[in-house]
Amino acid sequence: MLSKKIEAALNGQVAIEAASSQAYLAMASWAENQGLSGTAAFLYKHSDEERMHMLKLVKFINERGGKAVIPALKQPGTNFKGITDIFQALLFHETKVTQEINGVVDTCLKEKDYTTHNFMQWYVGEQIEEEALARTLIDKLNLIGNDKGGLYLFDRDLQGMSAATGGGGYKKEA
Ligand code: FEO
Repeated sequence: MLSKKIEAALNGQVAIEAASSQAYLAMASWAENQGLSGTAAFLYKHSDEERMHMLKLVKFINERGGKAVIPALKQPGTNFKGITDIFQALLFHETKVTQEINGVVDTCLKEKDYTTHNFMQWYVGEQIEEEALARTLIDKLNLIGNDKGGLYLFDRDLQGMSAATGGGGYKKEA
């Protein structure tokens, strides 16, 4: 049975994962409108993954005798200056998510809830991968600079990454 504190912390994380999914959906739509179809495919997939992260939490909360709260969502930002801006925003967002996850883990230890602590380790690992991938993509974009040919290849690579992982994620290719 979840304590009220743990239930609240997990529901906070549900809201964060849901907001992440919306944020990446807005980025995907922006990229699609710019003709960056590979980047759009990558971000649509990333948005789906965040929804999966949310669902995993919802199911865990309910299974452990708590009540999952499905949150209202704010409209995410849609004003992007360019593709590098998108991935910088994504990295910034993910570093904040990591801090939040660390906060939940900390609460688990304080409450001596080792089951939830164990469950949260999946999220800890996920954050390491997501931050590393975002940094790699930003490094690539910095190398490309304003080179249109480089950008074309970058977008094509992201298309390949999204297709190769067939809906389950992009990490194996990262
Ligand atoms: Fe579910 Fe990207 O954090």
